[in-house]
This record gives sequence, structure tokens and C-alpha cells, in this order.
Amino acid sequence: MELRGSVVVVTGASAGIGRATAIACARRGARVVLAARRIDRLNDVAEAITGTGGEALAVRCDVGQLADINELVRATLERFGRIDVLVNNAGFGFSGTIEDTPDDVMRELLEVNYLSAFRLTRAVLPIMRKQRSGHIVNVSSVVGKISFPFHGAYSATKFAMCAMTEALRGELSGSGVTATAVLPASTRTEFFDAQQSIGDHSAAPAGPQQSAERVARAIVRSVNHPTPEVNLVAPMRLAFGLNAFFPILRDMAGRVFYRQRKRGGAKPGAANITTRR
Ligand SMILES: NC(=O)c1ccc[n+]([C@@H]2O[C@H](COP(=O)([O-])OP(=O)(O)OC[C@H]3O[C@@H](n4cnc5c(N)ncnc54)[C@H](OP(=O)(O)O)[C@@H]3O)[C@@H](O)[C@H]2O)c1
Repeated sequence: MELRGSVVVVTGASAGIGRATAIACARRGARVVLAARRIDRLNDVAEAITGTGGEALAVRCDVGQLADINELVRATLERFGRIDVLVNNAGFGFSGTIEDTPDDVMRELLEVNYLSAFRLTRAVLPIMRKQRSGHIVNVSSVVGKISFPFHGAYSATKFAMCAMTEALRGELSGSGVTATAVLPASTRTEFFDAQQSIGDHSAAPAGPQQSAERVARAIVRSVNHPTPEVNLVAPMRLAFGLNAFFPILRDMAGRVFYRQRKRGGAKPGAANITTRR
């Protein structure tokens, strides 16, 4: 798909990967709709885009609220009359064991990280089908393919993003509309500050981190040349393959990871939810 002149809706555009994606799309001539809760941040991104000759619309939207999602679609159609690309990116992290994850946290994770994408996709598909073109980008994660201790609740929402994308690609065949799942690994954004944790105060990023701009470039490429899945870290392909054929290896790695995290200060059973932001 050609981005020039197209209308791209990005959720979670006030920071990190969403912000970088919106700016990257605008640089390639797309008209972008920026959605998130922090409207001041969205206005800053919109100003940065219009300041360089681009076109942007900022819409305050809590993606956990169905009414906000409907309003986002309505405002986009009112301003631009079409939707070519939807980037379902808004989300937050959570670290804690399954045993310790309260119902309300799991519900919010599902609402924000998965149900929002599901609902927005359902809302824009009739529009894209009518246009006979469109692209849905679902930002999942490497933990949308393989899960580890302390990541089960968050990871489940990212597995759901991959499952939805896989089903969609079949359901959309012949419609001119397609979908891609993007699987970022650890990325330098506000994600780890905004992340909630329970009993796991060592839930900081480990290992090398990629930039939000790198993920954004990969998202743009996936729109230009639609692929089923974007994996930004090549060795993860091997990990996913091994996980599929030898799940026992993942169990062994999971046990080592769990012990290391406990040594690093994680205390399963500690009942306070914390966030660094
Ligand atoms: N960073 C990583 O290491 C990493 C790795 C794999 C996958 N991911 C995924 O990448 C996506 C983007 O994360 P990021 O790294 O860019 O994190 P980030 O810098 O914390 O940005 C998260 C974005 O989501 C928005 N958001 C959160 N809750 C929302 C809600 N209820 N309604 C609307 N917007 C909401 C935030 O905006 P407001 O707070 O203004 O609403 C913000 O714009 C997430 O889905 C995340 O799971 C991140």
C-alpha cells in the first residue's frame, strides 16, 4: 500500500512506538490520526507533524472505553472520509505471577491491550471492505509467541493479538484488506516506567533494547509490503521454532528465569501493585 495520501489511525500515539509510527507515516505523506488519553502529548505530536507540512488530527481516546473507540472512528471519518491503515498499538505491561494477578488487573490488560484492537478492527473493517483496500497492524510482542514466568497475564493479551491477526488474514482473503502482527522485543520507550508489577520489582528491561523508530520503520515496511508477521529480532525465530517442537526446552528456560527473577528481588505473593511512573 502507498502511504502518501492515505489515512492512518494510530492508537497509543502519545509516546514510544505509536508516536514514532505516526511521525514515520506522516513523513511518508500519510494523514495521521493520533489517539491516546494524554491529549497534551498528542497535541505535541500533531504540532511536530503539521510543523513539517504534514496533516494530523489528535483525538483523546481511552481505548478501554467503547464509546471513545466509536468516537475515534467517527471523528476520523468526519475529518478525512476514509481509513486506510489502523495501527492497534496502545498497551501497557504487567509483571507478576498468575497466582498474584488480581481480576481487575487482568480485565484492564484485556480491555486495553486486546479488546480495544478487536473492537477497533471490527469498527473499521466495513469501511475498509467498502474501499476494497486497507491494512490492520496489530502490535503484539515476542511474548505473543512464547511466554515466561511473571509475564503470563500480559503475554496472554499479546498471544490474543497474534491469534486475531492469523484468523483475520483468512477472513479477509479477496477483500483487498490485510493484517500484520508486529512482534517487538524490548524497546526503549516509557513502557517499563508505565508497567505495573506485583511482587516483582526487578521487572526492568534486560538485554539489548531496540529504538521505537526501528519498530516504526518495520511497521511502515509492513504497510508498504504486507507480510503476515514482523519479527524484529532474527534469533527469536529460532526460539519460536524450538518452542513449537520442543516445549520442554521452554519449561527448562522458564525455571531458570523464575529462579533468577526471585534472586533479583521478585517476591511472589507480595500484594502491592506498583508502577514506576
Ligand atoms: N517497549 C517494549 O519493550 C515493548 C515490547 C513489545 C511490545 N510492546 C508493545 O508496544 C506497544 C506500545 O508500547 P510502547 O513501548 O510504545 O510503550 P509506551 O511508551 O508506554 O506507550 C504506550 C502508549 O499506549 C497508550 N495507552 C496506554 N493505555 C491506554 C489507554 N487505556 N487508552 C489509550 N491509549 C493508551 C499510551 O498513551 P496514554 O498514556 O497517553 O493514554 C502510550 O501512548 C504496546 O502495545 C506494548 O505492549 C512494547
